[in-house]
Amino acid sequence: MKDLFEKIYRDKGPLGKWASQAEGYFVFPKLEGQISNRMKFRGKDVITWSINDYLGLANHPEIRKIDAEAGVSYGSAYPMGARMMSGHTDLHEKLQSELAEFVNKEAAYLLNFGYQGMVSTIDALVSKDDIIVYDVDAHACIIDGVRLHMGKRFTYKHNDVESLEKNLDRAVKMAEHTGGGILVISEGVFGMRGEQGRLKEIVALKKKYNFRFLVDDAHGFGTMGKTGAGTGEEQGVQDDIDVYFATFAKAMASTGAFIAADQEIIDYLKYNLRSQMFAKSLQMQLVVGARKRLEMLKTMPELKNKLWENVHALQSGLKERGFDIGTTQSSVTPVYLKGSIPEAMALVKDLRENYGIFCSIVVYPVIPKGLILLRLIPTATHTLEDVEITLNAFDAIRSRLKNGTYQRLSAAVAAAMGQ
Ligand SMILES: Cc1ncc(COP(=O)(O)O)c(C=O)c1O
Repeated sequence: MKDLFEKIYRDKGPLGKWASQAEGYFVFPKLEGQISNRMKFRGKDVITWSINDYLGLANHPEIRKIDAEAGVSYGSAYPMGARMMSGHTDLHEKLQSELAEFVNKEAAYLLNFGYQGMVSTIDALVSKDDIIVYDVDAHACIIDGVRLHMGKRFTYKHNDVESLEKNLDRAVKMAEHTGGGILVISEGVFGMRGEQGRLKEIVALKKKYNFRFLVDDAHGFGTMGKTGAGTGEEQGVQDDIDVYFATFAKAMASTGAFIAADQEIIDYLKYNLRSQMFAKSLQMQLVVGARKRLEMLKTMPELKNKLWENVHALQSGLKERGFDIGTTQSSVTPVYLKGSIPEAMALVKDLRENYGIFCSIVVYPVIPKGLILLRLIPTATHTLEDVEITLNAFDAIRSRLKNGTYQRLSAAVAAAMGQ
């Protein structure tokens, strides 16, 4: 019989295999200093474009104050236990009502983490006779939720309504056989490439097909829509989203998440979300902090306006300079370049060390071979000067990529990686 760990000794996994070359630099980097547009990386000042603090709340003085005061009042333990047992409070309920009202739903329920919350939401909404139809580019938490499903599931091509229809046809046939219903899942904003989910076209299909619609709006909440209530608001279809999900980990600059839906659905979910029923309640410091963040999100439109000023400056600047930023329709700003993985590593090193620009890098197998994706996340804390410096740096690294500089620099990297 094999030792369970044998495979681990042999194969570290698709990302883990790069650990010795990448760790501490490309993966698990340590950004230091206060969360803002300028931080330190390995002792050097960098403009940070890799933090989802969209509205700049993370280090806002009012937020820092309320977080600190809540820490003093409640500590980090209170309340102890799961919501159902001993972890329930008035303030949890108040925050839920405020969130529900803001996203225009009857009720909301808090989740201690978005990831686990989404997994359990999917798990609780479907039983084995039901069919799930979801976007193939869905976030890992959706994929893991679907993995728990005992029944049939179909993926549709990314943001492709025709493909969704084809799969709905299949799902309907299957559901007639099983006697179940259909759950469609999309993201509001796809976090890697920035496209909005085609929510309007998806809900239009409800006229033809009988399904319920779950939207993960992690990146849309606080950034999209007139009031910041998210991508459903942006596309005018919030009422047709049956279950709306958002996390506090992005525009709210905190930890935690929530789902919002009709009262009866939330009443059901709060008794059936296993990752919430059997895990500690969201701690009070986070609840108090989330209420303040929500209030600021609602009453300080200037934060979202500043975010979008930066988004427009960055995205139009990149486009004017001939960069391929794909089909983003949100603040998430991808820049696609052509090159190998070693070239991408040399390029990012140059960007960080010589130009003081810190952004995330995505390569194969997440995107097709031969492409390099640099992902920039503008926030309300960035300045137009940050944008200008970054655009100039991108011009420079593109020239160096084209004239073969990174190919030469990457030879050592490639050798080390055995390529
Ligand atoms: C699309 C999407 N859904 C869900 C999550 C998970 O949320 P959390 O960080 O609150 O666990 C994330 C990442 O934060 C995300 O990007």
